[in-house]
Amino acid sequence: MKQPVRVAVTGAAGQIGYSLLFRIAAGDMLGKDQPVILQLLEVTPALKALNGVVMELRDGAFPLLVDVITSDDPMVAFKDAEYALLVGAMPRKAGMERGDLLGANGGIFKPQGEALNAVASRDVKVLVVGNPANTNALIAQQNAPDLKPQQFTAMVRLDHNRAISQLAEKTGKPVSSIKNVTIWGNHSSTQYPDLSQATVDGQPALDQVDREWYENSYISTVAKRGAAIIEARGSSSAASAASAAIDHMRDWALGTPEGEWVSMGIPSDGSYGVPEGLIYGFPVTVKDGTYSIVQNLPVSDFSRGKMGATAQELIEERDEVRKLGLVK
Ligand code: NAI
Repeated sequence: MKQPVRVAVTGAAGQIGYSLLFRIAAGDMLGKDQPVILQLLEVTPALKALNGVVMELRDGAFPLLVDVITSDDPMVAFKDAEYALLVGAMPRKAGMERGDLLGANGGIFKPQGEALNAVASRDVKVLVVGNPANTNALIAQQNAPDLKPQQFTAMVRLDHNRAISQLAEKTGKPVSSIKNVTIWGNHSSTQYPDLSQATVDGQPALDQVDREWYENSYISTVAKRGAAIIEARGSSSAASAASAAIDHMRDWALGTPEGEWVSMGIPSDGSYGVPEGLIYGFPVTVKDGTYSIVQNLPVSDFSRGKMGATAQELIEERDEVRKLGLVK
């Protein structure tokens, strides 16, 4: 049996946590041969509820779950963590401006970045799920100067999975027949779900659907799916978000299949003209725990416009948090 690895999860008593923790304990994220120690962070008032979740985790009798630690102190929860899933965040409240939201989240992600910098494994892989995910990831990253910037990522995988499922539904083909969709940019309504390189059963996706549907219906359906779920369910997408977080971390840890890519929010290196440093959704492949941006994809004028608009939103978010002194 392998040595156990430490997996930190913040916001662990929340909705996403309630799906996520059981999947990690079952080995869905790191493999059925990888024991884990869960290190769960919550705010002090939620520790009682978290304790109930821990009772259920123990009652799952998961063979791979070696131990569970809970704390309201990031210095405890992140100690020696090899994986950190930052789920807990400050939700947007009625009447809140973007600057207020970013500032409130800065109060969470700055100290968490500092704590990761101080105590996490030097190889920690960080996934930010809590919204606004891309800019929260930037804040955590910029406050962890001893870790590599590439260790901080944001989740666009739920959008990626939604992009696959919407195309599957439209074409009547199984999701397994669909490859190489891309989510460019921000996990927000400006994201660009791109089918220009996608295939269905090995054939170009855009030859199988009409362009009008793609441009005027598909893109906004994927981008606004979160709101549609809130409208239908009365609360936000949690199980599918947890599943996407599992997919993101699994592919980062264990690699992507040959000839296929996935979408991850990662620090831009300037590829495709995206300003360097922004945490932006890119098509990536992963080998030996390291991701690389898929290069030299053709970019049409239509794509260029959409990719630029979502970059612009991220620039504005970055400038707001810069004004607040949260990033350089
Ligand atoms: P939730 O409100 O049910 O749970 C959030 C939990 O975080 C709460 O238990 C809260 O006590 C905790 N928390 C707040 N501040 C904390 C801190 N400083 N340290 C530790 N824990 C803290 O929310 P839910 O549904 O679990 O969603 C969590 C986040 O994920 C939200 O920001 C949501 O917008 C985001 N999200 C992101 C998605 C993505 O695709 N990137 C998809 C779906 C949700």
